[in-house]
Amino acid sequence: MKQKIIPADLSPKERHQLIIGSIAPRPIAFVSTIGDGGKHNLAPYSFFNAFSSTPPIVVFSSNRRVRDNTTKDTLINVQKNRGLVINVVSYDVVRQMTLTSVEFPSDISEFTKAGFTPEPSTIVSAPCVKESPINMECRVNDIIRLGEKGGAGHLIICEVLAMHVDENIIDENNRIDPHKVDLMGRLGRSYYTRASGDAVSTIYQNVLEPILGFDGLPEHIVKSEVLTGNQIAEMAALHELPGQELQDAVKAKYPENREKVAAELIAIGKAEEALALLI
Ligand SMILES: Cc1cc2nc3c(=O)[nH]c(=O)nc-3n(C[C@H](O)[C@H](O)[C@H](O)COP(=O)(O)O)c2cc1C
Repeated sequence: MKQKIIPADLSPKERHQLIIGSIAPRPIAFVSTIGDGGKHNLAPYSFFNAFSSTPPIVVFSSNRRVRDNTTKDTLINVQKNRGLVINVVSYDVVRQMTLTSVEFPSDISEFTKAGFTPEPSTIVSAPCVKESPINMECRVNDIIRLGEKGGAGHLIICEVLAMHVDENIIDENNRIDPHKVDLMGRLGRSYYTRASGDAVSTIYQNVLEPILGFDGLPEHIVKSEVLTGNQIAEMAALHELPGQELQDAVKAKYPENREKVAAELIAIGKAEEALALLI
């Protein structure tokens, strides 16, 4: 059974936890800006994502503090100086990164407090974080205020002008290797996830060719109490029903426990044989 929750009925803290627990894992923008007098500022923002690749637009949100409805230094800085750097957060720096979320006075640099090294950027005045494997030099195109009360966000819409990518995280095809970049994601409360190793899986789906779909499978397969939705989807992703010859061959090979055998075949990438066994 599902619980119906009306966000407006909750306290600001409960609402925040409901949102961040549900929309997770979130990437983390580790944002470097310049304050008054050229002071470096660094803070993590997980209300963050990419929204366009041409032009390359990324957006993060700086919320008004629930406690006292004040705004954060990052927002104050970008309202005055529209250049910033978004650095990614890899596993190697995740604990260090959390130190920068402490509410230091504006004249204290989080670089110094958390032991990060500022490196000069090439286009904007805000520095890159040396320890981060990818830095994005950005210009703020727009800031959209989402509300007036504590907890209200300000969407900071950024265009990426230049990227600096550590060559150690690139694979032989010149693409970013998720296991090497080893990014961290934020969930609800104090939970984080590490996007490498067993946490990463590959799901290849050709989007140009037609598929059978769930409605193209025999009903007894779709209604199976043994097979999971993911297993049925592997068969629904096939382009056509297997021919009689394959059906006869696999049925002769596996005369019993067909749904269980089908699940095992799917696990080793033999969805066509699995479907041939079940129809
Ligand atoms: C992983 C992580 C993600 C965060 N995401 C956000 C966010 O999306 N929006 C926000 O307003 N605060 C977020 N915070 C809290 C800010 O980082 C914190 O308020 C920080 O002190 C703001 O620094 P600033 O005043 O220098 O901008 C996050 C904190 C952590 C540790």
